[in-house]
Parts: sequence; structure tokens; C-alpha cells
Amino acid sequence: MLGPFDPRQRSQCPSSVDFSPRSADEVFTLFLMAVGSATRVMDTGLACPDWPLCFGTLVPQMDLQIFLEWFHRLLATSLGLMAIAFAGLSAAWRQGLFPWVPYAAGAALCLVILQGILGGLTVTELLRFEIVTAHLGTGLFFFCLLTAITLAWLPLGVWVVPVGCGLLH
Ligand code: HEM
Repeated sequence: MLGPFDPRQRSQCPSSVDFSPRSADEVFTLFLMAVGSATRVMDTGLACPDWPLCFGTLVPQMDLQIFLEWFHRLLATSLGLMAIAFAGLSAAWRQGLFPWVPYAAGAALCLVILQGILGGLTVTELLRFEIVTAHLGTGLFFFCLLTAITLAWLPLGVWVVPVGCGLLH
């Protein structure tokens, strides 16, 4: 547990930026979005012609194009599992958090499920413009929501420490 911040105790001053599991979620999402964009740019959106499996199997024979689309799905599945853990943990620890954080984490879980469905439709509807656009928009919205949760979930001390340590003026 963090005690109250005392600016006279320099040992409490951070020597580097805190890298928490919440920011790990965000970095992971950014990477997933980059792989999704690569899928788009390299025109490999239909390299796996079916969904949720790829060529009817969990791990198909790979070439670069199939790998990109398959890897995008693998990362998305992992992110889905992380979102479930995220929602569960924030519900369990809700007493130490801002009251709206568990709701926001629940909303993030709903968004990731919607994103998975849109991803599936992207394939089954053969890259229909409206669905690809909705998939991109929901992905961006999801990333913004994660950023808000990450910032809101930081303990109060993290906002105070940079001022007390002379890192902010
Ligand atoms: C949270 C999960 C996901 C995120 C954040 C995400 C994000 C993205 C992003 C940012 C793009 C690039 C879109 C563009 O440039 O227009 C993309 C493309 C794509 N995503 Fe996802 N995605 C997710 C899950 C999925 C899933 C589960 C599938 C399942 C099939 C999927 C299938 C695709 C396909 C096929 C493309 C390429 C679309 C095209 O070629 O036009 N995505 N994704």
C-alpha cells in the first residue's frame, strides 16, 4: 500500500516513469492496431478466408500474408482475455478505485467483444467498407478508453510525486 506522499523523503521520488500492467495493456493494444494496419496495407485481410478458424484450423500452414492475419487474430484473442482479467480485477478492487473505473473496464470488455464480432464480419462480409470502417473506429475508441482508465487508475500519489520531486513546475 502507498502511504501519504512526503516531498522531504527523496527516496519516494521516482527515478523513471512507472510502467504498470495498465500501460502494458495500452502498449499491447497499440501493437495489435499496428499489426491490423499492416494487414490492411499489405492487403491480407482475407488471407484467412474463414472465421473464427483459419482454413478450418487453429494453426494453419503459414506464409507471410496468412501469418499477418492469423497473428492479428491471436493478439486480439489475447487482448480479449486481458480485458476479462481487467474487468474482473477492477470489480474485485473497486474499493480502492474511482467508482466509475469498474464500469469503464466493463465498457472496455464490451467494446473488445464488439470489436471481435466486427473483425469476424470484416472477413465473412469480404471487407465491406462500412464494417472495416466500424472495425477501425471501434479499435480507436477502445484505445482511447484504455488510456482514460490508465490515467484515472493511477494512485493520487503519482500525480503529486512529480510536483513534490521538482519534476513539474
Ligand atoms: C481488440 C481487437 C482488435 C483491434 C484493436 C483491431 C484493430 C484493427 C485495426 C486498427 C485494423 C486496421 C484497420 C484499417 O486500417 O482500416 C484492423 C484490421 C483488420 N482486422 Fe482487426 N482488430 C481487432 C480484432 C480483430 C479480430 C478478432 C479479427 C478477426 C478476424 C480482425 C480482423 C481484421 C481484418 C481482417 C483486418 C484487415 C481489414 C482490411 O484488410 O481492410 N480484427 N484491426
